[in-house]
Amino acid sequence: MKIVSIKSMIAIMALIYLSFVPVSTYCAGIEISPSEATNEIYTPAPKPQPRINGPLVYGCRPGNPFLYRIPCQGVRPIQFTVKGLPSELKLDPSTGIITGKVPQKGEYEVLIMAQNSKGKDKRKFKIVAGDKLALTPPMGWNHWYAHYDRITDKMMREAADVMISSGMADVGYSYVNIDDCWMNSPKHNDPMRVGPLRDDKGNIQTNSYFPDMNGLTNYIHNKGLKAGIYTSPGTLTCGGFTGAYQHEKQDALQFASWGFDFLKYDWCSYGKIAGKDKSLEAYQKPYILMGNILKSLDRDVVYNLCQYGMGDVWKWGAEVEAQCWRTSGDLGFELDRIFDVALRNSEFRQYSKPGAWNDPDYIQIGWIGNANKMGIPELTPMPAAMQYAYMSLWCLMASPLIYSGDMSKLDEFTLNILCNPEVIEVNQDPNGECGLVIKQPNDQFIMVKNLSDGSKAVGLFNRGKNTAEVAVNWAEIQLSGKHSVRDLWHQKDLGAYKEKFTAQVPSQGVVMIKIGK
Ligand code: GLA
Repeated sequence: MKIVSIKSMIAIMALIYLSFVPVSTYCAGIEISPSEATNEIYTPAPKPQPRINGPLVYGCRPGNPFLYRIPCQGVRPIQFTVKGLPSELKLDPSTGIITGKVPQKGEYEVLIMAQNSKGKDKRKFKIVAGDKLALTPPMGWNHWYAHYDRITDKMMREAADVMISSGMADVGYSYVNIDDCWMNSPKHNDPMRVGPLRDDKGNIQTNSYFPDMNGLTNYIHNKGLKAGIYTSPGTLTCGGFTGAYQHEKQDALQFASWGFDFLKYDWCSYGKIAGKDKSLEAYQKPYILMGNILKSLDRDVVYNLCQYGMGDVWKWGAEVEAQCWRTSGDLGFELDRIFDVALRNSEFRQYSKPGAWNDPDYIQIGWIGNANKMGIPELTPMPAAMQYAYMSLWCLMASPLIYSGDMSKLDEFTLNILCNPEVIEVNQDPNGECGLVIKQPNDQFIMVKNLSDGSKAVGLFNRGKNTAEVAVNWAEIQLSGKHSVRDLWHQKDLGAYKEKFTAQVPSQGVVMIKIGK
């Protein structure tokens, strides 16, 4: 028998050990991903007393079902009360879930209060019953970059569970969205996803992993969360599953009767139908059709255009009744270009306003599957500093905040990036402004966003290879005199500053501040 050296024995034992533990628990010296090597947690843990989060304004359409779970941190049980709630709406005081029918057209100013054994909080909330939805950028989760064509009903339910248990819902995440691959496909390597595309009445068929869509949306709604679905105006989706072509109305009615609250409408094989026609009319045609159908439904369905920015969609997305539109291709293919994608998206800032959002695609941190091979989720190799910058950019740009990673593997570091309520408040600001980029010498830039309370949120970004000093001069952001500065990631007041604020910003990272008025 060959004698194995102690060194190789240790190596073999380590390998056996590693094959049973998730990568996130790998020890130093064996394997460490860059994001773990510097995973400094900036966001203080939520306090035990209630802190009510979420948007200050909320749009909905009169007569339609209403569902809103008050986002609130703090130790449960929390007792909720709401002053001034229209009589058509009812609050469950123990869950903070408001349901009912949207009252008639009008603005309803309510006061939300939350109390637990440690303290209490209150926050104003305006319900605007009218035409517009998504008065602040939609927040939620989408399955794509975690589960691709492996998605199941069970995973969707699990994501909804985790949205609650992780505290994500307590800072405002609410949409639980299925992406592609819930339908049947004419051809797929998993026979469970192959079957009739439609029944003899033309009704779209789900694949075997989605046996009960109403059951699924009920499950999500019972938690006070909302459900999203995906299709394409073409005959097939990007993944090769049934599309809505020539069944647009039938499918939209089906989605509404299943109880969905969000539709991502992905161009894909519609390219074959549009053919060589690259006119604006050709780009708009399928989106106008679906937009009008969605608007006529007796359900509020947020409409998300996914056509990668063709025909300058930011100029007409709102006209076709959409609330958000992708401004570029799939970010999963260019995660090394976060800054470039964001800077380009910010060029369309004039089109960002309440109910109309430029969408540079999902937040892909934590455990995500490589987009090039539709891979099984792995821990992101993105440096920690860049993850802070990523989230800061999306918040300063008022982009939809849709997380797309494996919810079952959310770790403390990823949650700290996703769930800082002060950073999210910048994203959800009622003004809906997308920040303005001011380039600095070398690899630095700042992004400035005017907030509705008269203050300004500023991100000081450093794309360089080394830590760099970045300054924001009051004069360049139309300020003068002394102003208070708060570090939003650390949730810490830094004092009052005259003329400028300067920070040491890590390589690929950010310092994000709020400057008092
Ligand atoms: C396109 C979209 C992605 C995703 C896939 C699904 O690539 O841009 O976001 O929805 O299709 O097939």
